[in-house]
Amino acid sequence: MDKIRIRGGQTLNGVIRIGGAKNAALPLMAASLLSDEALVLSNVPHLADITTMANLLGQHGVLVSLDGQAGNGGHVGRVMSLTAGKITSTTAPYDLVRRMRASVLVLGPIVAREGVATVSLPGGCAIGTRPVDIHLSGLEALGAEIEVEAGYIRARAPKGLRGARYVFPKVSVGATENLLLAASLAKGETIFENAAREPEITDLCECLIAMGAKIDGVGTATLTVQGVDRLHGAEHSIMPDRIEAGTYAMAAAITGGTVELEGARLDHIEAAAAQLRKTGTTIESRNGGIFVSRANTDLLAVDVATDPYPGFPTDLQAQFLALMTTAKGASVITETIFENRFMHVPELQRMGADVTLQGSVAIVRGVDQLNGAPVMASDLRASASLVLAGLAAEGVTEVRRIYHLDRGYERLEEKLRLVGADIERVEDS
Ligand code: UD1
Repeated sequence: MDKIRIRGGQTLNGVIRIGGAKNAALPLMAASLLSDEALVLSNVPHLADITTMANLLGQHGVLVSLDGQAGNGGHVGRVMSLTAGKITSTTAPYDLVRRMRASVLVLGPIVAREGVATVSLPGGCAIGTRPVDIHLSGLEALGAEIEVEAGYIRARAPKGLRGARYVFPKVSVGATENLLLAASLAKGETIFENAAREPEITDLCECLIAMGAKIDGVGTATLTVQGVDRLHGAEHSIMPDRIEAGTYAMAAAITGGTVELEGARLDHIEAAAAQLRKTGTTIESRNGGIFVSRANTDLLAVDVATDPYPGFPTDLQAQFLALMTTAKGASVITETIFENRFMHVPELQRMGADVTLQGSVAIVRGVDQLNGAPVMASDLRASASLVLAGLAAEGVTEVRRIYHLDRGYERLEEKLRLVGADIERVEDS
């Protein structure tokens, strides 16, 4: 197994190209199940989770092909074509689903198209219990009969799904996506209220509309879907990854550097940008990307509470917490989305961070200097926070279990090396 070795203390300077968004790509790939024609996605990131989803879709009968060119710091312009001419299996087996929670996104489209779907329960996850009850109650509202038995969800709608009014009891990104996919092929009108408003959902709506779906209220918490009998093929370019962009913005800030995030969109990370500005970091739109700099200014402590979009994203909480470990003053970080999302804290403490945990709140008192140490990645975003800490620390940091990073960051060490970090991937002996 590989590990990442960082010799900290280098200031980052230069350009980092931001890839397509993993969290947009996964539901977009699932959308291919809704049509017997080809869905052609461009700007597809090269990540383990994308391969997992491609394997799962392949198992359902989707023909997946990939084309693209290698570029500096990543595969640019990868194009994936997905054709679900015929759904050959309506079952998503445990072995594939357990690898990635987003696999449950095949449930809505398969039951909408085939009238039946059997999907393994995704199971536990390091950052919290993450149930799928909202996905299931929403499908029931659309007329599906749901049984959960022996670890599998079985959804049946032999006469097809029918439109309904459904109010999400809690904002859920995945459930909004699953139900949008399902409602696109339901009979009649569906009105979703309290839907998630993340940019990845807007991206999904735009692709579905290109496939012939009728959706109003895109970008708002109320989405109205007029079901259609069939969807056709389409081409769609995946939005840039706002979490990757936010992570590298914080990497620039923690090292006191200046980077341009090529292809990133500032309007997608406004809440995080607003907090970064309060830390003394400059962050603005420039040349169709984002310019970030904290050259010659002190890093100041700022409080953050996570919230659904347009609030501060939970997927940037760990990275922001790492940033705060060397800030001047104390910062209160509150996690409101997932109950167990502070697993990076004990590892950061090994590097000399001063953090006190009280339930869903972390109090971070900035220290003058972090020290490099061997640390263990526990989940995707926690891993990124350890890398950021390693970039700022004195001495060598080794991050183990980096398969977590590979699920969501394309060639992270290459991209950081190109802007001056002393970072390498080495075999863990
Ligand atoms: C997605 C993102 C993930 C991000 C999260 C919140 C993908 C592939 N993943 O995850 O990176 O951290 O949004 O922005 O896009 N919940 C329930 N019942 C349900 C569904 C969710 O109680 O049926 C709870 C969850 O446990 C959590 C909260 O709702 O506490 C939000 O979860 P949700 O928005 O659904 O997250 P995901 O879609 O899994």
